Amino acid sequence: MSSQVTLTLNPAFRVAPVRRRTFGAFVEHLGRCVYTGIFEPDHPEADEDGFRTDVLALTRELGVSSVRYPGGNFVSGYKWEDGVGPVEDRPARHDLAWHSTDPNTVGLDEFMAWAKKADVEPMYAINLGTRGVEEALDVLQYANAPEGIALSDQRAANGHPESHGIRMWCLGNEMDGPWQTGHKTAEEYARIATEAARAMRQEDPDLELIACGSSSSSMETFAAWESTVLTEAYDHVDMISAHAYYAEKDGDQASFLASADDMDHFIDAVVATADHVRAKLKREKHIMVSFDEWNVWYQHRAESRPPSGDDWPVAPVLLEDTYNAMDAVVFGNLLISLLRHSDRVASASLAQLVNVIAPIMTEPGGAAWKQTTFHPFALTSQHARGEVLDVRLAAPTFENARFGTSSAADAVATWDEEDGALSVFVVNRGTTEELSLDADLSSFGDLEVVEAVTLHHEDPYAANTKDAPETVAPQANDSVRLEDGRLVGALPAISWSLVRLARRSA
Ligand code: AHR
Repeated sequence: MSSQVTLTLNPAFRVAPVRRRTFGAFVEHLGRCVYTGIFEPDHPEADEDGFRTDVLALTRELGVSSVRYPGGNFVSGYKWEDGVGPVEDRPARHDLAWHSTDPNTVGLDEFMAWAKKADVEPMYAINLGTRGVEEALDVLQYANAPEGIALSDQRAANGHPESHGIRMWCLGNEMDGPWQTGHKTAEEYARIATEAARAMRQEDPDLELIACGSSSSSMETFAAWESTVLTEAYDHVDMISAHAYYAEKDGDQASFLASADDMDHFIDAVVATADHVRAKLKREKHIMVSFDEWNVWYQHRAESRPPSGDDWPVAPVLLEDTYNAMDAVVFGNLLISLLRHSDRVASASLAQLVNVIAPIMTEPGGAAWKQTTFHPFALTSQHARGEVLDVRLAAPTFENARFGTSSAADAVATWDEEDGALSVFVVNRGTTEELSLDADLSSFGDLEVVEAVTLHHEDPYAANTKDAPETVAPQANDSVRLEDGRLVGALPAISWSLVRLARRSA
């Protein structure tokens, strides 16, 4: 007999409206994300601007809302002006972060053209590693100012008379990290970020500005960094960033499956720190979290090691992790955590979009396919609608080395009152035992099950490849049904599921 997971759901358990920006992604000049990822002019499916239309179609299918660009570690040594103007005049540069060469064929204007085609909102990161306030203002004026001043006229001369209208701006990237070009102490970063933000707001008061938080919650400076930065920058920024990557280490499946516990604690700690500063400064506004890098990433594997020595390749194969079924379950659970925190997580970016730790893979000159992680993202983005509902949950627990005791199940729901649509996202994080689902839905009125799908594979290490791209994909879960107002069904070990219900028409 299987153990039971009992979910208590009620339309009154509202957290916040579902935010479309939860479903952001990230395109960095790193490996093959840009070149042979989104952009490959010689590809048979490239459009007139050199963008791969197969990748554009998959990006739309993934349901991506916003895309952070151009880095990442890359941005901390980047000169934005190298990437605008006639392509033949653009200089190639060494990218110190990834020990690669960037030909600068793609820059700000190309990215904006791609974002328009992909129907995504841009999020632009400025370089506060090797550069400062002046360059921040320059790139802002080039991107957004109406025609009539030097930099916007330059944009117009480059074929883009209209303002790009970028609202979200990241004030640097992971400046707490000693690996970052131009790494700074919290005090140094607080200064430069505040001054850049103040100047950018003088140029355009409506920008949404994101200060760098910690590059992971395990940084020694975590929380002290956020406190120092926000104490100085509070009035000038809207969000503080958080970054987190998870991986199965040394065969410890249990800890890996509990990764979302860490994301929960991380978000709660950043919010607590921001609110401490708010109380200290006696301010009204709340600082929100921009979780602008999150994913599963096997950083210890060879593919994550950048080239070295005299080798400075263009678009090398880097960070091309292949994701398995278990990775997709953890990934789906991370999305559950992000949704559950929609009251304070105002924006999030899956790192990254194509080839580099990505849900979409491409072969140069060839196919594009979906990794396992594509599926929970696309389904959550498509079906999380209306209000996020907190789910009270009773489930067995399991012990793991990293977090101690964790719940074998995790869940969140969304409820669109107007359309009468309820979506329940639930994971079974146990490695061996099936869980039987039991949820009382009587407080939602008369519902019917529209669809129940489960992502699971008997081999948790099964993956999708170019030649077998459908190996791991969600399948209909026919065990899920309504019985006297209770939702019941079977959730296999290591699985992610979505159950969609709708108000029965009278
Ligand atoms: O997403 C890969 C890298 O991870 C980014 O460049 C950096 O910001 C983070 O450390």
